[in-house]
Amino acid sequence: MGVEKKNILLGVTGGIAAYKSVELLRLLKKAGANVTVLLTDSALKFVGRTTFEVLSENPVLSDLYFDTHSSVRHIDLAARADAVIIAPATANTIAKLAWGIADNALSTTLLAVTCPVMICPSMNTDMYQNLRVQRNLDILEKDGWHILDPDSGVLACKTVGAGRLPEPWFIFDRVEAMMTQKDLSGKKILVSAGPTVEAIDPVRFVSNHSSGKMGYAIARACEKRGAKVTLVSGPVGLEPPVGVERINVETCEEMKDQMIANLDQADIIIKVAAVADYKPIDPKAGKIKKNNKTKELCLSMIETPDILKLIGKKKTKDQFLVGFAAETDDLEKNARLKIEKKNLDMIAANLVGASDSGFKADTNKVKLFFKDGSSFDIPLMEKDKVADILLDHVIEKMG
Ligand code: PMT
Repeated sequence: MGVEKKNILLGVTGGIAAYKSVELLRLLKKAGANVTVLLTDSALKFVGRTTFEVLSENPVLSDLYFDTHSSVRHIDLAARADAVIIAPATANTIAKLAWGIADNALSTTLLAVTCPVMICPSMNTDMYQNLRVQRNLDILEKDGWHILDPDSGVLACKTVGAGRLPEPWFIFDRVEAMMTQKDLSGKKILVSAGPTVEAIDPVRFVSNHSSGKMGYAIARACEKRGAKVTLVSGPVGLEPPVGVERINVETCEEMKDQMIANLDQADIIIKVAAVADYKPIDPKAGKIKKNNKTKELCLSMIETPDILKLIGKKKTKDQFLVGFAAETDDLEKNARLKIEKKNLDMIAANLVGASDSGFKADTNKVKLFFKDGSSFDIPLMEKDKVADILLDHVIEKMG
């Protein structure tokens, strides 16, 4: 999945946004891609060859006749490419590609590629909306190439409108999506993530350490694999995953209402949220004042609804239900008990308390347990990768 170990061609053409492709290159390299950069003559007026050469660790191709290595290097590159990104793509290059013109290293190489191609147009709004440019983009889209819509905003020419190159992280995210097999296409997936928050008074609350990273990684992976995803999220500091419908909630009751409201349409339900098991019985309307005499404050708590158990009771035989278990001990025993009690098809159990797994960390170590008694260990790895392995198992078990 994704761009790791993949051969990516990054074409850069002559626009003011060319500087952003340096950051895009950095993101691709960080993710483990082997990137070769192709620059047009106009691109070289905006950005330097050396920057791309050093960061990509590969020779840049900008001239078919004078760049060394091989006289047919563009053919070699095209044959080995797993994906091509052109960012920014000018109106001129878009026109050449639409009509099959091969008059520089980039346009000639593009005639030979057979892999997925993403075009990221970036130009003045009137140019972008020009009928000829739109017609050329239509041609490329109908040919099966991916066109990434430009952002709107203040452009270099001081125009306000569509034409700005999207941020590098966004392009990177969409490239990953383009390169991911759509094995969840047609599926609707309901994911919950993050903590819930229960008020003690208007300034204090009961919650937990969930950052939402694990649940958001799962929502992202589902979307990239072609699913339609609804993410019910407690309060977290994360951007909503691209292409995912996010519903924000605070309390367990709110999360329950949203999960139940979206349950019927879901084929797969993955409940990653860390829900407060108890909430204050009687949250105060005003701030609780300090009591210097007793030095103590007793807080009466009451159980919250168990959302997962409720879904387990309601789910149909065609729905696949995944729970998570956050444990500090007896991982296997507690996880298997939860499968029984909550009528789950699968549970992902993780030990919490360590700095590199469970709450807040970017990595996690998870053991999957299934209704049929089998299990699978996922060693410590990035939460994005854990999400993909977990989904592989969901797909396999669903048949
Ligand atoms: O968000 P991160 O910082 O990335 O951390 C990830 C995580 C540690 C939160 C995640 O990996 C995880 O373990 N989530 C489950 C946390 C949890 O509440 O575990 P639990 O064992 O208490 O609950 C078991 C299951 O019942 C969970 O699926 C939970 O969503 C659900 N539950 C619990 C209580 C309740 N009232 N309603 C529920 O639906």
